[in-house]
Amino acid sequence: MMTRKRVLTAMIGAALTFGATASTYAATTLKLSHNHPRDHAVHKAMSHMAKEVRKLTDGDVRIRIYPDAQLGTQRESMELMQNGALDMVKSNAAELEAFAPAYAAFNLPYLFRDKSHYYNVQEGSVGEEILASSRESGFIGLTYYDAGARSFYTSKPIKTPADLKGLKVRVQPSPSAINMVKALGGSPTPLAYGELYTALQQGVVDAAENNIPSFSLSRHSEVAKYYSMDEHTMVPDVLVISTKTYDGLSDENRKALKQAAMESMELMKQLWAESEAKERQKAEKLGVTFVSPDKTAFVESVQPMYADLEASNPALNDLVKRIKEVQ
Ligand code: GCU
Repeated sequence: MMTRKRVLTAMIGAALTFGATASTYAATTLKLSHNHPRDHAVHKAMSHMAKEVRKLTDGDVRIRIYPDAQLGTQRESMELMQNGALDMVKSNAAELEAFAPAYAAFNLPYLFRDKSHYYNVQEGSVGEEILASSRESGFIGLTYYDAGARSFYTSKPIKTPADLKGLKVRVQPSPSAINMVKALGGSPTPLAYGELYTALQQGVVDAAENNIPSFSLSRHSEVAKYYSMDEHTMVPDVLVISTKTYDGLSDENRKALKQAAMESMELMKQLWAESEAKERQKAEKLGVTFVSPDKTAFVESVQPMYADLEASNPALNDLVKRIKEVQ
């Protein structure tokens, strides 16, 4: 016969085993794909989010991050998510434009007055409206991440739009980016990010445009020695999740995920500023010259994009108007 103590021990043991098994089965692991290396600020911010959500949900929700486009380009990752093979993707507004038209607003050149305008739009009601706008396409946005300003880089300084004439400029697969380079007088060539290093090296394209950390961490700084700070766009990175995955989470877990995402967005602001300074220094050491062109001619050249929008797309034009009104 078992003693009372033995019975109790056995019962506790069974309870512990049951508890462990139950929580193991209940845990949801969300797969997240993105195209940056592990030392990119956005990877660090999302790793923080993964830790936070695990803590907030007592291990119920975990996020496994696949960096470096291991699971495909941004576009391929979006398609995998829509097919249910992936739960989350970190993309950016330029590429999301093809999946949800409201993101096009962020891709207009010289839209934001400054960094605080950029943050206030993202954190305000217009920003949330855009994140929620893609439900019909099978995903929603969780948060934005600071991705600074994008500028042109090539083997010569770009001081005015005239310097882009005759240059094949790599752009993201995004209609706005294509129109912008056309408006500035260059020849846009859409390419996936991962193909760009070789394309620059082999002369398939002559120039590209990106923020400083992406320019440096992708080692484009080895093959393009002038970075001209015309700062034409401020295209935020965006973390999206499949609606099927999102709707399958409990209310509490959804809240925890949103909270962790918002915290990582806040952390990203600081990580981004540090990364911009550090990567600029690294690029300078590699012999890259940073030039600061007068932006006037760039701003003037893209104004027809706003006129076209007003004439042809009232819904987007209204969104852009509301973005401009944000203080
Ligand atoms: C940025 C952005 C990426 C994007 C890349 C590009 O680095 O963070 O999401 O893929 O630009 O130019 O393709």
